Amino acid sequence: MEREDGLAQGRKLVAGARRVAVLTGAGISAESGLATFRDSGGLWENHRVEDVATPQAFARDPVLVWEFYNARRRAGAQARPNPGHLALAALEQRKESVVIITQNVDGLHQKAGSTRVVELHGNIWRARCARCGRAAADLPVEVPFLSYCASCPGLLRPDIVWFGEALAPRDLEAAAAALQDCGLFMVVGTSAQVQPAASFAFAAVGRGVGVIEVNKEETPLSSLVSVSLRGEAGEVLPALLFV
Ligand code: OAD
Repeated sequence: MEREDGLAQGRKLVAGARRVAVLTGAGISAESGLATFRDSGGLWENHRVEDVATPQAFARDPVLVWEFYNARRRAGAQARPNPGHLALAALEQRKESVVIITQNVDGLHQKAGSTRVVELHGNIWRARCARCGRAAADLPVEVPFLSYCASCPGLLRPDIVWFGEALAPRDLEAAAAALQDCGLFMVVGTSAQVQPAASFAFAAVGRGVGVIEVNKEETPLSSLVSVSLRGEAGEVLPALLFV
């Protein structure tokens, strides 16, 4: 489908929906200067990302894990929301509800002004005790290696859902409720490969609700959705939602 035809069809779906749910992934933050997982080949300084983002990695080498997350916190501190984040935030003015279900941990949707954000994979700006779970307060951008909990001898860890860990039931419930409640589901900047996050998009297709995908490349969802728009989120989303 030509881009203009797709945009026209997408705009009709947007106009017809009162409640919108949006699943986002690393691609929406790419134009804010944050690397996606697949684009970097899944590597960080020759470590597989899976090897610095598991509870086993943290137990083996917490300094290496904090080096990885401090590098991401430094990059995140420089990052600003881009026109893709801002267009989704502005959509709240025109709809009864807009729920963002994000796999991103960078907090850029909230910085852009979105008020209902379900963070399926946690948030890089938070840390908690690996032992008792107590949240840590007032951390600098670079967390000193081997920081301890204020109330027990446990080490602080990033408040991120790592590979092999379960997502928080309350976040899964909030995402499922947004999916059930919406008249339009959008999928932006995700390779749709990581479960259970991707399953919300496939479930939206199964529910028969309109689904619009925005991605630079084709994904396993592209042939299933109502409209698949190929391009950068920071360019396509404003054109889809506000032109
Ligand atoms: P990926 O890195 O797997 O995929 C990024 C997607 O964004 C790809 O499909 C790109 O084509 C697309 N993309 C890149 N730049 C874009 C742009 N400017 N506009 C639109 N699309 C663009 O990232 P995720 O799907 O988010 O999990 O990965 C899911 C999870 O895998 C992450 O949350 C992370 C990772 O392992 C955890 O950390 C638990």
